[in-house]
Amino acid sequence: MAQTSLTCSEQLYQKACTLIPGGVNSPVRACQAVASTPLFIKKGQGAFLTDVDGNTYLDFVLSWGPMILGHAHPSVCAKISKAVQDGTSYGAPCENEVKVAELICKALPHLDMVRMVNSGTEATMSAIRLARAVTKRPKILKFIGCYHGHADAFLAAAGSGVATLSLPGTPGVPEDVVAHTILAPYNDLDYVKEIFKSVGKELACVIVEPIAANMGLVLPKEGFLEGLRELCTHAGSLFILDEVITGFRAAFGGAQTRFGLEPDLTTLGKIIGGGLPVGAFGGKRCYMEEIAPKGPVYQAGTLSGNPLAMAAGLATLSILQTKDYALLETRTQEFAQELANILRAKQIPVQVPTIASMFSVFFTDTPVIDFATAKTASTSLFTQFYQQMRSQGIYLAPSSFETGMLSFAHTKDDLDHTLECAKHIKFN
Ligand SMILES: Cc1ncc(COP(=O)(O)O)c(C=O)c1O
Repeated sequence: MAQTSLTCSEQLYQKACTLIPGGVNSPVRACQAVASTPLFIKKGQGAFLTDVDGNTYLDFVLSWGPMILGHAHPSVCAKISKAVQDGTSYGAPCENEVKVAELICKALPHLDMVRMVNSGTEATMSAIRLARAVTKRPKILKFIGCYHGHADAFLAAAGSGVATLSLPGTPGVPEDVVAHTILAPYNDLDYVKEIFKSVGKELACVIVEPIAANMGLVLPKEGFLEGLRELCTHAGSLFILDEVITGFRAAFGGAQTRFGLEPDLTTLGKIIGGGLPVGAFGGKRCYMEEIAPKGPVYQAGTLSGNPLAMAAGLATLSILQTKDYALLETRTQEFAQELANILRAKQIPVQVPTIASMFSVFFTDTPVIDFATAKTASTSLFTQFYQQMRSQGIYLAPSSFETGMLSFAHTKDDLDHTLECAKHIKFN
């Protein structure tokens, strides 16, 4: 029977496809871009995942960022287990919400106040609502290839014409919703200056990933972020840093602490929830006090500040305070450099940009500075790379438009082993 030749993951996927759209609860998990099917995971431990067939993989996805301490960190698990015994949701405040807020505001000095939500999408969606409310302006500016979650306002495609003609990136988003979303190429400050000249007075905010990690890894050019800050200050628009990925990954704090930036609002997620569903937005007191019930801008959530998420987040952030980010960064840099050397020796065009504990692999010679240049990377070479690494037990993000992550649980031996696997790859 054909059925018996399928792995357990494949069987589950077949069934999932009849019950869940595309068989997955978030699209990129389907591994379509790399002509593969998803692995169904039954266990995560340290830097490793084990699938339902009993295969173990070294994990460079880390749940798309949150698991910077590795999976099932004993202290985090202990705090979650303890919290479970005390009840899983109250719909009333708990002490850990205050502790998490205090820790976040201390680590990110430009956050005077913070509101917890349940996902990065909720955080960014709420931040732009607040920006629009306090500035009384409709428009927002985002960068092509940056991802800020799936709220309607952010799903504007990269229009090839004038930025104000942006079109919805998905059916179901009315054009008049994204008509207020202006697009600019990442790293192109001159382009942004022109936008400010024409519509600066209508711009509620600029929202940007301070290190772009959703078109592969694209580092900000020197002066780009500082330039955005200045333009916002001058025009009276809010400067929002989306640190859902970079928060507590780019540094203890985030990219803003690393680069010395002063945002008006910041969005967070992923790491601050220690692997439980979470998000947060915060910023200067004068803006945050506009949020209900202190102010008129409505924002709410049945499970916001959930006691399990707060316990996991507090445990994770407390441990991270003691961790050597510099060491993890050096380890990541050496790994990325050596990976680039190994792949280049196979006579293929490749770049492996890296910062902090992030890296990505672009199969192109064109310097990648924005989405247009990221798209010059060969998807066929990436697919071969992904598939052959996965068959050797290395679990990478299934698209060259995603970013690889290391955790504090990845050892030098793990990385050396990964490089050995890369040596065995054959491209055709
Ligand atoms: C920079 C950034 N912002 C926002 C989001 C949305 O977060 P979530 O998936 O938790 O809604 C993501 C998700 O990957 C992200 O990378």
